[in-house]
Amino acid sequence: MNDDSMKARAKDLARKAMLEGDPLSWFETLYSEARAGQGSIPWAGMKPNPHMVRWVEDSDRHWEGKSALVIGCGLGDDAEYLSALGMKVTAFDLSDTAIAWCKERFPGSETDYRTANLLQAPEEWIGAYDLVFESYTLQSLPYPERCRAIEAISSFVSDQGTLLLICMGRDADDPEGDIPWPLTREELRSFESFRLRISTLDDFINSGPPPVRRFRVECNKT
Ligand SMILES: C[S@@+](CC[C@H](N)C(=O)[O-])C[C@H]1O[C@@H](n2cnc3c(N)ncnc32)[C@H](O)[C@@H]1O
Repeated sequence: MNDDSMKARAKDLARKAMLEGDPLSWFETLYSEARAGQGSIPWAGMKPNPHMVRWVEDSDRHWEGKSALVIGCGLGDDAEYLSALGMKVTAFDLSDTAIAWCKERFPGSETDYRTANLLQAPEEWIGAYDLVFESYTLQSLPYPERCRAIEAISSFVSDQGTLLLICMGRDADDPEGDIPWPLTREELRSFESFRLRISTLDDFINSGPPPVRRFRVECNKT
């Protein structure tokens, strides 16, 4: 299947899973199908997220020796990038197949890859990470899971820690759209209910094809 077919396949699986009342189940199906050679993962660029890389490069912070948690890590490229900076990285995904794939792609990796559900995360992750990185998971979750996910993601950030979030963005009066659902600034402000202060919000158009509006948000624990 080509990229467009895989995007359509992902949307079909997601819609079906939501109708069946199990909105998280389709991720594993998609990874299993791709792993079996029936296509590729539509969001997997097989390289670190360029907006995260730019954020790291533009900052004068030193991450060596700090801890990082990568939410919904997919095929692991973001986790490996942070690990190469000298960070102690835990990266997790709901999909067993995605995690097995990460371990196969990066056999000597120091990243601690785990299968876990963000909505039922281990207690020991609470307040444990200097950097929490989330890209494109929230936008693939419907309500009420998205609200629970925002609270969970916030809880992992340590005192003085940072959350970096990258997502598709829209204005509140734009159509909600179909999965993936872009986030609004108002939704992003809900992180502030969980002791996070938004310190920067970059609103930009990712050059296409197709051009996509994105938000890159840095939050710091108050
Ligand atoms: C749209 S993909 C983005 C993957 C990766 N972050 C990236 O930017 O390429 C969303 C990822 O989140 C994972 N995911 C979805 N819900 C999750 C949950 N509740 N807990 C952990 N991972 C989840 C999916 O399996 C998928 O790998």
